[in-house]
Amino acid sequence: MDIRLTVFVALVNHRSKHSKLMTTLVEREKSAFFATYERLPIGAVTSAEGVHINTDMGATYLDAISGLGVNALGHSHPAIVAAIREQAGKYLHLSNLYLQEPQIALAEKLKQASGWDKVFFCNSGTEAVEGAIKLVRKYFSDPAKTEVLGVENGFHGRTYGPLSVMDKAKYRDDFGPFVGGAACLHGYDAATLEAAVSARTAAVIVEPIQGEGGIVEMPLAFIDALNALRTKFGFLIIADEIQSGIGRTGRFFAYEHTTLVPDVVVCAKAIGGGLPLGAILTRTEIAEKLRAGTHGTTFGGNVLACAAGCVVMDLVVGQYQSNAAIEGGYLKKGLSALQQNYPDWIRQVRGKGLMLGVEFTAKAKDVQNHLFERQIITNVTAGEVLRLLPPLTFERKHSEELLQGITEAVHSLAAAPSLVA
Ligand SMILES: Cc1ncc(COP(=O)(O)O)c(C=O)c1O
Repeated sequence: MDIRLTVFVALVNHRSKHSKLMTTLVEREKSAFFATYERLPIGAVTSAEGVHINTDMGATYLDAISGLGVNALGHSHPAIVAAIREQAGKYLHLSNLYLQEPQIALAEKLKQASGWDKVFFCNSGTEAVEGAIKLVRKYFSDPAKTEVLGVENGFHGRTYGPLSVMDKAKYRDDFGPFVGGAACLHGYDAATLEAAVSARTAAVIVEPIQGEGGIVEMPLAFIDALNALRTKFGFLIIADEIQSGIGRTGRFFAYEHTTLVPDVVVCAKAIGGGLPLGAILTRTEIAEKLRAGTHGTTFGGNVLACAAGCVVMDLVVGQYQSNAAIEGGYLKKGLSALQQNYPDWIRQVRGKGLMLGVEFTAKAKDVQNHLFERQIITNVTAGEVLRLLPPLTFERKHSEELLQGITEAVHSLAAAPSLVA
């Protein structure tokens, strides 16, 4: 057989074999899984390394969402893999009945990077928020001071505490009733806040930069009002840094870009280096209200996750947090220039460091689909916002590839008037 024909047949066989794998996976998922997830249309993932994801279709994608903000050091960072292997060779799970060095080491690193006194480990973001709500109620231990307020458009997780301080119908519809004494402010402004808080308020929870809500930064006037009202009414401020924390915005926590002075901080996502881990950070006088047995978890602070977290901390603080500021600044500048060229298409570019959102006037999904075709993975959240959460290890060539992809997508959509909304 002609050599070119042989290669062609091999390629066709290769692709159809792997397409069959994908078809099989979709069918198996349909028959065995809850239908709670919409999977990305990129084929079956066979491996992922650094900023790239490889599929059975032979494609390599540039990952600009890094496991929804989890893979801060990219996929399968060799130092994380080595730390997990080393720890797995010692022990996997003991329970929180035992002192475990990786937990303590990670807590010390978090303290050092953030300036907070004490750390509690759990397994996820929603669990960290649940724990923070319990913590503030225990702190006041006063039935007349139990109210916890969230802010419109926020996202804090899927269990009842977080859902109770959120307002979005898509997460709450038909799941009520919610936790008593919890509510959500309608309006992200100082006057609404002032009207809502009182001596009954135990805490207000905010995201310094809303992630799922479409990369929305907290307005400065709101921050000033929040700080002042806390002094007046003696409530606590919880900063949800689950998406924005651990160096993503170019500072260790996003609130460090602002005048916000939180009392409790929750983080998760990136801190476990790809393994499930969440954390609550606060001052000693607040932390010590939770005594032995009042709060806890079987898996929280799992040693594999903590060992991975130690690597994340060393590399993020030592190197990649500043890279996030540099690459994020470069990307934002490029995206803002694109917005100037296409004001009818792009309404706003928002965010800090490598937590960026491009708000389109319409058709963000079409832009995302164009990017899939160019083998670039992004995410659309909150209507028409293209969300970018690349690994903090992004290099200039990756930023350029991403910018080029978005530019070409906008260019071709703008050149096809039939697609305009
Ligand atoms: C700001 C914020 N808070 C809380 C959560 C919930 O975290 P998890 O999904 O780990 O429960 C998320 C998840 O996206 C988040 O972005």
